[in-house]
Amino acid sequence: MRMKDKTCLITGAAGGIGMAMVTAFLAEGARVIATDLSQATLSSAAENVASEYRERLFLRALDVTDTNMISALNASLESEGLAPDVLVNNAAAIRIGKLLDTAPEDLDLVYSVNMRGLLQVTRGFLPGMIARGGGNVLNMASLAGVHAMHERFAYSASKAAIVMMTRAIAIDYVDEGIRSNCICPARVETPFVTGYLHRYYPDEVAERFAALSRYQPVGRMIRPDEVSAMAVFLASDESVMITGQSFVIDGGVTAGDQPPSRIASKG
Ligand SMILES: NC(=O)c1ccc[n+]([C@@H]2O[C@H](COP(=O)([O-])OP(=O)(O)OC[C@H]3O[C@@H](n4cnc5c(N)ncnc54)[C@H](O)[C@@H]3O)[C@@H](O)[C@H]2O)c1
Repeated sequence: MRMKDKTCLITGAAGGIGMAMVTAFLAEGARVIATDLSQATLSSAAENVASEYRERLFLRALDVTDTNMISALNASLESEGLAPDVLVNNAAAIRIGKLLDTAPEDLDLVYSVNMRGLLQVTRGFLPGMIARGGGNVLNMASLAGVHAMHERFAYSASKAAIVMMTRAIAIDYVDEGIRSNCICPARVETPFVTGYLHRYYPDEVAERFAALSRYQPVGRMIRPDEVSAMAVFLASDESVMITGQSFVIDGGVTAGDQPPSRIASKG
């Protein structure tokens, strides 16, 4: 059990990667507070969690843009003895488009969830971690935060900011026993991806899906459990000497050229 005695709070936990982390953390012995916009979404996403883990799983509504909800959750978790020592900032919003497709309101929305949300949730839970002697802030960035991807103007900017926020947290709070890392996946097959394909390319979902799969030189998208495996390592004490780092999971995208046989694709 690599996470026994850890209490982990995950935002955006009803989504594909979020629920994979919930399941993986539970399997490693952690207590998990899974949060997302609504209790109903969480309950349905958590339907398949094994019954043996249920007594260590707590589902709580949390909108990361709502400071009142963050304070109320913080207070109630403290009173229930569930104050987290691992915080996973995973919730995100996406807008697809180049600069000229991006209205200021699109940038505001992406920033309010991805960056401001991370700030607000971490501001909520970090003081408690420090007071208890330390903790771990794990952020979900993206390959788009370290490698320019087509038509991701607002999203990439927010994820690049998360990479640097991670490093800032790591160096500013190292003396307080806090460490912070982030994960930068390429395309992961989740409702996040299928959702934006249906929204932005309703007439070419299958072609776009195939192109997104080909984008990774290994020839397929990443599975959520392949991201949660990294999250377990970074949330557990196995990685105790690692802080301020970004971990790319990209099936070879940034290693170099695609194989000659691969047709160049965008999407
Ligand atoms: N799927 C991918 O290809 C991919 C690639 C790289 C990085 N990521 C990142 O991984 C993380 C999880 O992505 P996913 O693919 O599981 O997405 P998802 O859409 O399946 O899940 C995202 C979750 O965030 C929640 N959310 C949105 N706004 C929120 C808010 N204001 N407050 C609280 N929760 C909110 C949604 O309800 C949803 O459950 C995100 O940070 C995303 O940017 C995903």
